[in-house]
Amino acid sequence: MQRETNILNLESVDSTNTYAADHFDSLGDGVLVVAETQTSGHGRLGRKWHSPRGNIYASFVMKELFGEPFHATMVSSLAVLSVLNDLVPGHGAYIKWPNDIFIGDRKLSGVLCEGVLRAGTLAGIICGIGVNVNLPEEELNRIGQPATSLLAQTKCKINLKIFAEKLAVYLNWYYIIGINDRERLFSLWKRENRIIGRHVMLQPPNGAVYEALVRDISEDGKLQIEEANGTLHEFACGDVKLLPGQTGA
Ligand code: BTN
Repeated sequence: MQRETNILNLESVDSTNTYAADHFDSLGDGVLVVAETQTSGHGRLGRKWHSPRGNIYASFVMKELFGEPFHATMVSSLAVLSVLNDLVPGHGAYIKWPNDIFIGDRKLSGVLCEGVLRAGTLAGIICGIGVNVNLPEEELNRIGQPATSLLAQTKCKINLKIFAEKLAVYLNWYYIIGINDRERLFSLWKRENRIIGRHVMLQPPNGAVYEALVRDISEDGKLQIEEANGTLHEFACGDVKLLPGQTGA
C-alpha cells in the first residue's frame, strides 16, 4: 500500500490535537497537522504542554484502527526516534514507557493519543506529538519537569520543516507496519524501551507509588512490575522514573 505524505501547516492553534479532532471528518487518513505554536497545548494526565515557537507540535490522524489504542502510541514514539536517527547522529535517545522519549534522565518528547468518537464508537485516533527541538536552555527551565531539547544537546539548530516532513514519512511508515503486522510493530517498539530489568518508581493515576523491578511489557503495552516482596502488578498507564543509578541509555 502506498500513501502520499500529507502535512497541514498552521501558524498558531489552541492545540493541534483539538484542531485535528475538530476537523477529523475533512482531514485525510495519515495527515499530519503541524503548528508553529500552541496557545493551549496539553499533555498526558491533564498536564499543560509548554508550546513556544521553535519546537514540533504535531498531530497525526489515524482512521484505520488496529489492535489496542496503545499500538497507535507506539507508531508515534518509533517515528520520532527514526527522525532523530536521521538528523541527530549519536543522540542517545530512548523510549521511556509508556511513550516518552528521553535523553539521559531528561524528557525530549511526549505523545498524547486521543480517540475520536462517532455515534458512540471509536472512529479514529489522533496522536499528538511534542518534541523539544530548538528550545534554548532558559526556556527549558520553565517546564515543570527535567527536560531537554535537541539544541541543548547538540548546540545546533534543526530545520523544523525538514523535521516535520521526516516525521510525517515515518509516522505513515510505522502506521502501515501496525496495520499489516501488529506484532512486528510491538517488537520494534519494545526493543527501544530500555526499562525492562531496571528498578523504577511507578506512580499510576490512582496516587499509589511503587518502587519495583520492571519484569516485562505485555503485548498490549502494560508494564509488569515486581515489588521487593515478590508482589506482581500490571499497569496500563502511569509515570515511571528510573531509580538513582539506573540510566536508560
Ligand atoms: C505528554 O504529556 O508527554 C504528552 C505531550 C503531548 C504534546 C503534544 S504537542 C502536539 C499535541 N497537541 C497537544 O495539545 N498535545 C500534543
